[in-house]
Amino acid sequence: MHKSVLLQEVLAHLSPKEGEVFIDATIGFGGHAEAILRAIGPKGTLLGLDQDQEAVDWLKANLAPKYPNLIIEKANFSQISEIADRKGLNLASGILADIGVSSYQLDQPERGFSFRENGPLDMRMDKDRELTAEKILSDYGEEDLVGIFQRYGEERLSKTIAREIVAIRGSKSLKTTKTLAELVEKTYQKKGLKRGKIHLATQVFQALRIEVNDELGSLEKFLPQAIDLLATDGRLGVITFHSMEDRIVKQYFKKEAKGCICPPEIPKCQCGHEKRVKILTKKPITASKEELNENPRSRSAKLRVIQKIGK
Ligand SMILES: C[S@@+](CC[C@H](N)C(=O)[O-])C[C@H]1O[C@@H](n2cnc3c(N)ncnc32)[C@H](O)[C@@H]1O
Repeated sequence: MHKSVLLQEVLAHLSPKEGEVFIDATIGFGGHAEAILRAIGPKGTLLGLDQDQEAVDWLKANLAPKYPNLIIEKANFSQISEIADRKGLNLASGILADIGVSSYQLDQPERGFSFRENGPLDMRMDKDRELTAEKILSDYGEEDLVGIFQRYGEERLSKTIAREIVAIRGSKSLKTTKTLAELVEKTYQKKGLKRGKIHLATQVFQALRIEVNDELGSLEKFLPQAIDLLATDGRLGVITFHSMEDRIVKQYFKKEAKGCICPPEIPKCQCGHEKRVKILTKKPITASKEELNENPRSRSAKLRVIQKIGK
């Protein structure tokens, strides 16, 4: 269903051990989770979160029966503290977040994530959310669309694409992934620009998905809570798939690995910031050649790991 990326690297760096408490904040179809469950054994506990009901239902039917010590909850990881608290877990030896969409989500046309399939412009990982890609395209102002395509997609034709969307949406609504992908392709053709290695609609689809799921906002809320939840020496590993997320993780880890964060011109510390973690991966870990051959999706995966120091 889904090939877990950087599986051996995650195990080596989070080093789950017999009897420990772990949290998989994006359990998906349970690939990493099952490897962690084997390592922590029946005396350990694994709390698994996912915001996608389909993943949760699948896990309850397929993984939970084998592991009574697996607790599964449909939730956004931005609520990790509240959920852990409700489940009576207040300190974890390890936390993993493997963020982004699963290949299962990507391959289901009706979820609307892929420009290669024709489906509704949905893109919600959590179907209980109201905002869909279709709503964004029909309701957001032109400037807001430009901002999203620029910020979250680094799309070079952001302005022209937003203008084309606004021009056609009065007469014909944008309802399918195919219509949107074609609109992007036509915009490039009109400018005489050719297709490179990646599909022309890649960045627009990525940008919409990030906005629909508030992906960066959730990540920013998750990181401080995850560090709070770690026991001394506990480890947090985050796998990201695009540069914006990786930047957020890298900068947050750097900040938490420092003591005072006052600007250099302030002679005496006023922030009171304390070093809370040690960075275990100076550079992000990426997929090996073997993994890249087996699973092209691992191409953009980056794993960063920290270890909690002190309380
Ligand atoms: C790449 S897959 C995880 C795959 C999993 N590690 C495995 O080995 O099968 C990412 C999963 O994270 C979930 N997800 C993404 N963002 C989330 C968030 N903010 N909160 C909870 N789940 C999230 C998605 O629904 C998806 O199922």
